[in-house]
Amino acid sequence: MIRSVIAGIGSFVPPKVVTNDDLAQRMTTSDEWIQTRTGIRERRFAEEGVSCSDLALEATRKALEDAGMTASDIDFIIFATLSPDHHFPGTGCYLQAKLDAAPVGCLDVRNQCTGFLYSLATADAMIRAGLYRNILIVGSEVHSSALDFSDTGRDVAVLFGDGAGAVVLSAGDDPERGVLYTELHADGRFAKALHLDIWDISKKPYITPETVTSGAIWPRMEGKTVFKHAVTRLCESIVRTLEVNRVRPEEIKYVIPHQANMRINQMVAQKLGFPEEKFLHNMQRYGNTTAASIPLLLDETYRQGFLEKGDLLLLAAFGAGFTWGTALLRW
Ligand code: ACO
Repeated sequence: MIRSVIAGIGSFVPPKVVTNDDLAQRMTTSDEWIQTRTGIRERRFAEEGVSCSDLALEATRKALEDAGMTASDIDFIIFATLSPDHHFPGTGCYLQAKLDAAPVGCLDVRNQCTGFLYSLATADAMIRAGLYRNILIVGSEVHSSALDFSDTGRDVAVLFGDGAGAVVLSAGDDPERGVLYTELHADGRFAKALHLDIWDISKKPYITPETVTSGAIWPRMEGKTVFKHAVTRLCESIVRTLEVNRVRPEEIKYVIPHQANMRINQMVAQKLGFPEEKFLHNMQRYGNTTAASIPLLLDETYRQGFLEKGDLLLLAAFGAGFTWGTALLRW
């Protein structure tokens, strides 16, 4: 039976560290407010001129090296981002050109914080269907260029950071390893609870002097709505994943959750009765890197030597859309 396995993984964050105190120079906020409500201490911001596909390229190079492959071994690219290089074409195409990997197919996934899981599920299905052998999946974000650092946007601006994570998902036949299960969900009734208003691109005209000056160019969020739904949906999805796969919580080595807010993840762990130390975090150092957060955390966990072959991992994410999902895999 063909099963998809992570053959290589890598991540990259830009070197510039932006602390909570740095943000407090730009808006009315404090290290205490941000840490208490989110757990975030600092994040990375890309320098001017560095794009989403630039960060993705660095993460990809590390993933290819880890897999012992070159770009010529990749036969499809799936790119997850909400901060693309351009509105179109997809950022996967820009990355493919930088890798000199034409003419492999490129698919952009626009599912925000759940983007990596949607990409993983899609790549897994493609590999099991026998369509491709080595799919590059990348989650990459440059948020820092498109946040409102005024007091109006401070609830959103303090949360996000820049970074990228990449995996090479390959066809394998080792029954001890691979993606075992994925589930994906969405509820578009909450699309406007976290969204960017100006890109109502199907409405004419969508760029007017008013839309530019109104603040509609910045992401806006109903924080409490997002928080409440994140906890509920993540709990439901994790419980179902365990039930469907007949897995007991103690069999899971680690939960690798999306890194949006420490309190969300702690609350989920608590409600499910998981020991908190099974829920891994690095948002303290990187903030919310959206589509990059899960591969970034998985890569750090792997490189720190915490993962052994056969470990059972549960990946879970919730984000704008709303979208959410889980994946169960044996490392
Ligand atoms: N610094 C200081 N004060 C702030 C800040 C800030 N950065 N942001 C908001 N405030 C103020 C508000 O103006 C408000 O002031 P008021 O009481 O005078 O009106 C006060 O703090 C409380 O604001 P709330 O919005 O009620 O604060 P809350 O406790 O809900 O925390 C937060 C806000 C941290 C955003 C929380 O709602 C949250 O984490 N929600 C989930 C967000 C999330 O996870 N988003 C990402 C997931 S989706 C994705 O990843 C794409």
